[in-house]
Amino acid sequence: MKLIFLGPPGAGKGTQAVAVSAELGIPHISTGDILRANIRTGTELGTRAKEYVDKGQLVPDSLILNIIRDRLSAGDCENGFLLDGFPRTLAQAQSLGKITDIDAVINIDVDDQTIVERLSGRRVCPACGATYHVSTYADETCTCGERLIQRNDDKPETVLNRLSVYHEQTRPLIEYYRQSGKLHTVRGSAGIQALTREILNIIDKVKR
Ligand code: AP5
Repeated sequence: MKLIFLGPPGAGKGTQAVAVSAELGIPHISTGDILRANIRTGTELGTRAKEYVDKGQLVPDSLILNIIRDRLSAGDCENGFLLDGFPRTLAQAQSLGKITDIDAVINIDVDDQTIVERLSGRRVCPACGATYHVSTYADETCTCGERLIQRNDDKPETVLNRLSVYHEQTRPLIEYYRQSGKLHTVRGSAGIQALTREILNIIDKVKR
């Protein structure tokens, strides 16, 4: 299964991608996680990406496409993969189409107000990558023992910028994938487990 999870920032792509990729036994490839790991360790890619990520702008397509080409050529992608946060522009989608075919695109639909609430309350673990929300997890420490942090780009002004970038540059991909007949839209306001079941049902039907 070669899958794309599409949706605005905070739609729940990462949350669902962790559960769905584990269930299907395919790698979860998050361009955001790859960029943040590079920023943390101070690689050249990380240094170049940081100024864009911190402002909530998209990193240039050329940098992202190099990451994706490398990652998709790894052996663990032979039986499929789940892309989370890529593609995000029409140019990225067209380039991906030249690298490989996709089986399904899951578009997680969430309104802007919910997104602002979700991202302002999101806390992440810098060690294991787990994601929480302050409304459902009051502890300041991850279950792995690390202290939780707020992502730099989850500050209110950056969230609004990320949302407008999504509407301008990423939302047009919904129509692009609808025309290819691969698009499946789900309501991201459903509960986390209910949404995982709905997505797995869709994937089951695509497989048959
Ligand atoms: P990236 O890391 O991809 O961020 P994003 O797309 O903005 O998505 P998020 O990680 O913020 O949200 P999510 O949809 O995964 O939601 P989550 O599951 O965490 O990208 C970051 C930056 O990197 C970009 O701004 C850009 O600069 C750069 N970048 C990355 N990819 C790029 C690309 N391809 N091209 C160019 N630049 C790129 O959930 C959010 C919160 O909601 C959590 O607290 C969670 O617990 C909660 N939640 C989740 N689901 C539910 C639910 N069903 N009900 C209630 N709460 C829920």
